[in-house]
Amino acid sequence: PHVLVLNGPNLNMLGVREPSIYGRDSLQDIESACQQRARELGLSLDFRQTNLEGELVTWIQQARGNAAAIVINPAAYGHTSIALLDALLIAELPVIEVHLSNIFRREDYRHHTYVSQAASGVICGLGAQGYLLALDALATILKNKKD
Ligand code: DQA
Repeated sequence: PHVLVLNGPNLNMLGVREPSIYGRDSLQDIESACQQRARELGLSLDFRQTNLEGELVTWIQQARGNAAAIVINPAAYGHTSIALLDALLIAELPVIEVHLSNIFRREDYRHHTYVSQAASGVICGLGAQGYLLALDALATILKNKKD
């Protein structure tokens, strides 16, 4: 199965961006860890980042029929984007939302995300490990779909 891992705005700055909140791993480090876990789980991965909301929408639209599932760290767009929510609902795919930081321990404006309404599950506060847990969960979800 093919899984799309999408990363939203400013996540290309991981490693140098507020490391006390987001950790020292770069996005490249997180991708490497995800690719390794995907191999172990028998998944193929397409790992992407963009700072553009519309590009995320387009990628999600293209996932319909081409990917089996989506992992998304929508970053700040999770808190603001109904367009992203709508695209995920159209995709009709299992979605796991990931945030590196514990958004519930932070500012009030980070407590709500639109994307959560399209997500099978939400993982936050566990850093880069959250992405790996999301892949584990999707492997189980996709396996249960088959049998
Ligand atoms: C984030 C949390 C968001 O509130 C923030 O805007 C981000 C990163 C996270 O991974 O913890 O850019 O999605």
